[in-house]
Formats: sequence, C-alpha cells, structure tokens
Amino acid sequence: MTNPPQSPPAPAANAMWGGRFAAGPDAIMQAINASIGFDRRLYAQDIQGSRAHAAMLAATGIVTNKDAEAIREGLLTVLSEIDSGTFPFRTDLEDIHMNVEARLKDLIGEPAGRLHTARSRNDQVAVDFRLWVRDQCDAAITGTQALMRAFLAQADAGADWVMPGFTHLQTAQPVTWGHHMLAYVEMLSRDRSRFADARARMNECPLGAAALAGTSFPIDRHATAAALGFARPTANSLDSVSDRDFALEFLSAAGICAMHLSRFAEELVIWSSAQFRFVHLSDRWTTGSSIMPQKKNPDAAELLRAKLGRILGATVALFTVMKGLPLTYSKDMQEDKEQVFDAADTLMLALAAMTGMVGDMTANREALATAAASGFSTATDLADWLVRALGLPFREAHHVTGTLVARAEALGVDLPALTLAQMQAVHPGITDGVFTVLGVDNSVASRTSYGGTAPAQVRTQVARWKEVLG
Ligand code: ARG
Repeated sequence: MTNPPQSPPAPAANAMWGGRFAAGPDAIMQAINASIGFDRRLYAQDIQGSRAHAAMLAATGIVTNKDAEAIREGLLTVLSEIDSGTFPFRTDLEDIHMNVEARLKDLIGEPAGRLHTARSRNDQVAVDFRLWVRDQCDAAITGTQALMRAFLAQADAGADWVMPGFTHLQTAQPVTWGHHMLAYVEMLSRDRSRFADARARMNECPLGAAALAGTSFPIDRHATAAALGFARPTANSLDSVSDRDFALEFLSAAGICAMHLSRFAEELVIWSSAQFRFVHLSDRWTTGSSIMPQKKNPDAAELLRAKLGRILGATVALFTVMKGLPLTYSKDMQEDKEQVFDAADTLMLALAAMTGMVGDMTANREALATAAASGFSTATDLADWLVRALGLPFREAHHVTGTLVARAEALGVDLPALTLAQMQAVHPGITDGVFTVLGVDNSVASRTSYGGTAPAQVRTQVARWKEVLG
C-alpha cells in the first residue's frame, strides 16, 4: 500500500469568510474550489455590477456617498490593473469576486468592506455571467449578420448561375447558385433571431436577490437593473440565483448555428475537390501538404465541420451540471462557466472564419453549369411537360420519363441528345416542343413559384435581404 499524496500544510483561514474557521483549506481543496483561473474572464462584468451596486447603495442611503465614491473610484483602478496585466490574482481568494474586493480593500481601506452589503456572491456571479452571455449574444448577432452579408454577395453575383441541386447527394434538379447561397442566409437569419430571443429573455437583472431570499436593506433593484442595461429586475430571488437557463439557451442557439456552418463546411469540402471543382478556395483559407506538393487542403472548412462537437459538448456538460440540482445555488454551478467560454470563443471564431471563406471563394461557373446539365437533371421538367402538353396523369408521365432516362442512359447520352424519333418510340404523342424544357436554363427559369429557384425569384429575395441587412 502506498500512502495517498500528501498535500502541504494548510494555510491560514480565508480572509473573506474565514471568521468561523480555525485553519485554511487543504491545498487540494483550494485547487478544486478555486475558480479564479477561469472566472477572471468576468472581471469587467464583475466591476460593472459592483459599481452599479455601490451607486445604488448610496442613492438609497445604505452607505454614504463618500464611501460609495471611494468604492466606485477604487473599482476603476482595479479595472485598469486587470486590463494592463498588473493585477495580483490570488488563488487563495477563490474567485474573481473576492479577488476584486480584496484588492479594493488594499487600495481604499475600510469602505471596501461596505460594498458587499445587501449582496451575495450568488447574485453577484449570476449578474456577472448574465452580462457576459448577453455580450456573447450581441457578438453572435453581429457575426451572423456579417456571414449573411457574405452569402448575400455571392447570391447577388450568381443569381442566375446554374448548378445541380442535390437530394441524397444525387443530382436532383438544376438550381441557381444564388438560390443555394440564399438558403444559408435564411438559416443564419433564424440563428440571429434565436440569439436575439435568448438575449431578450435573459435581460433581467438578478442583482439584489442576495444569497437566495432577498435582503432586509431598502435596496432599489430597478435602479441597478437600469444601470446595467437590463429591462427589469428578476421577480423571484430563488430563481435569480439558481438558474442558468440563459446560458443553456445561448449554447443551444450556438449549437444550431454551428450545425448550419458545418453543413456549408461539408459542401465546401466536397465542392473544392478535384472531382467537383465547383468552387475555388483562396490560398488564405487552405493549407498545403508536407508530402504531396499538388495538395491544397480545405482545412478551415474541415475544422468548421468539426467545431459543433465542442459546442455540443459544452451544452451537454452544462445540462448535466444543472440536472437535478435542488434550489437554490449549489457549488456545482461554478462548473457553468469554462465550457460556455469555450463554446462562445469557438462560435465567434467559426463565424469569422466562415465569413472570410465565403467572401473569398470563387464559384467555377463552367463546372457548375456542366454538372447542372448532367445526371438527367431535367427529367422532372420532361415529366411536367408530358402533363402540361399531352395531358398525361403525373404518375404516367413519371413512368414515361423514367423509360426515356433508361433509354438515354443505355445510349450514353443526356436527355436533350435523344432524337424526337427515339422519344416517340417511348410515347408517340411527344412533339418537338419537348426540347424547350430540357435545357437547364429553361428549367431554373420556369421555377417561379414563391421561394423557387428561378433567377427572378432569387433577385427578389436578394433585394429583400439587402433591405433587411442595410
Ligand atoms: N465562484 C462561484 C461561482 O462561480 C461564485 C459564487 C460562490 N457562492 C458561494 N456561495 N460559494 O459559482
């Protein structure tokens, strides 16, 4: 039997809450307990929240104006120390809240101890984290808009370029490049509105819920809510300190958005291959191979295809932390932050990379058009013509067309290369009017139903999105 690892002797009791403690925490306890290694990222929000709290404490007469002024000024000094990298972060002070407050005490002395009146770290961390996630919603809204603009510019340039539309990744019907690009504009606009919805719902201020039950001090929660840009204070103190649904909503919206990015990333991987050559990705968004000199690898697209994994991982992690937690705050909830930070960083980087790639990519019009015309892509147009011109029931038209496709395939040609005689051998009623519908340009131009792929429809949608995005 070997002995368990010995930790160094316990240090003195915690300066902030150690009143009833004779000894400090074990070093390993400190390592598992401290969050300063990651929650320092909330410093700007923490100081913003504390400054609002101090101003409110003065306005309500709970602390003097003089003390509140000293606190508010001192907090600005702390902010600039952290900004400039000179702040002495201490693990023994556990988290960002106690690090800031302890440093404030070093700087201004006794008044610093009044800042925590009518407040707890439970409502403090709730407000800090909400402010941080709210900022990420704003960044995600900006990021999705930038990417929408990049897709829109592609759609505008190629409103009438034909390409194959796929189902099952098999050639289905010809579509337009602009239409395909606008599909992503639609997806991203829903992503954007999910971030906006989440932002609106989270925009209530938990500060003043204190530990869990509210406070007996005559605080003004409406004032702190307004000072921090919240629509209103939260209405239930227990809920205020114990839910993290706002972060889960952000993660869920981020996951859906990253899923959309992964789909276009996959299309880029396919489209930029030598077999497809639908798009050319610029040198700025590709890498070379260390052994195969000819290679230009779509690494950015591949990484974008993968990033959803991290975001979903973060989402599952936070759901798992929150699942089954009894009200109200439990220390489990300190595990809420790191993965949300990582997911947000991942999403912003992914949006920026995709925006750069879409802006830089060049469609290969010829390759798109050639592919659009192959694979019997106008077979549906032929069937529709049989219905319209000959009055066949669609099921019968489908069958006749299938026979014609089989004939063309056997002859090794595409549909427009069949002669009228060859067609009439399958159905005697066919006239040479059929040839007007077998070209891909005619095919896409005919799909004028609302939301269809016709260039005229695409141009209408491009104009609408230009209006929306300004
Ligand atoms: N570091 C803590 C967290 O992130 C702050 C709240 C601590 N509250 C407490 N009662 N221990 O959750």
